[in-house]
Amino acid sequence: MAVKMQQVLRWKQEQRPIAVLTAWDVISGNLADQAGADLILVGDSLAMVALGYDTTLPLTLEEMIHHGRAVRRGVRNALLVMDLPFMSYQASVADALRSAGRALKEAEVQAVKVEGGYPVMADTIHALVQAGIPVMGHVGLTPQSVNVVGGFRRQGTSPESAERILQEAIAIERAGAFAIVLEHIPPTLAQTITAKLTIPTIGIGAGPDCDGQVLVTADVLGLSDWHPPFAKSYADLRQVGIAAAKQFCEEVRSRQFPTA
Ligand code: KIV
Repeated sequence: MAVKMQQVLRWKQEQRPIAVLTAWDVISGNLADQAGADLILVGDSLAMVALGYDTTLPLTLEEMIHHGRAVRRGVRNALLVMDLPFMSYQASVADALRSAGRALKEAEVQAVKVEGGYPVMADTIHALVQAGIPVMGHVGLTPQSVNVVGGFRRQGTSPESAERILQEAIAIERAGAFAIVLEHIPPTLAQTITAKLTIPTIGIGAGPDCDGQVLVTADVLGLSDWHPPFAKSYADLRQVGIAAAKQFCEEVRSRQFPTA
């Protein structure tokens, strides 16, 4: 059955953990949907896992919409959320409204995710929600700020930065977000934020006490040759794929394929 926005909030009240996977094309979207993911995120991590960039920064809104449309064609049941890419929403609320509007109209996703918190993003999230666009927040390690924070490092490790992340999360909830991603922060901080908020927290590298968990599907499947320390691979599809492709090459060269 198709997941509705209200259900996501109910799952937190019922303490029913929320499973979120990312997707970047029709195959990964359909795979995550068939696996029963509650939410599917067209994450801008696709810049790194599908397009070979070193960071998420080069990704354009056009590229995100292109991938979002492909994922949409593979997803029937999960709630579909799309990341707004770097600089498609930070410069002004008007930019954010235009970019998010295009995501809903052209990629037909049901919500957008934006990175960052108080004070800048709270106003943006409020405006988006007022315009009828559901928003997921994202605090802690925000990869679009990689050049400010100096790498893909764990955040919230000092009392000051932990307090700032907590206040950002509270501001994001007040602004009207329906859920929030907590990335690469200490589990105790994630636990505190999860207890304080009424909206669900979706953790990645944030310990076991979030209301849900998200992983990048390429990491879950073991498709890439690298994954972050907090990710878990449930398969080694890279090796399976290399072996299958190698067998094809050998069979072509030895004329075993195709048969008559
Ligand atoms: O881009 C992405 O895949 C994400 C998740 C890691 C939360 O933002």
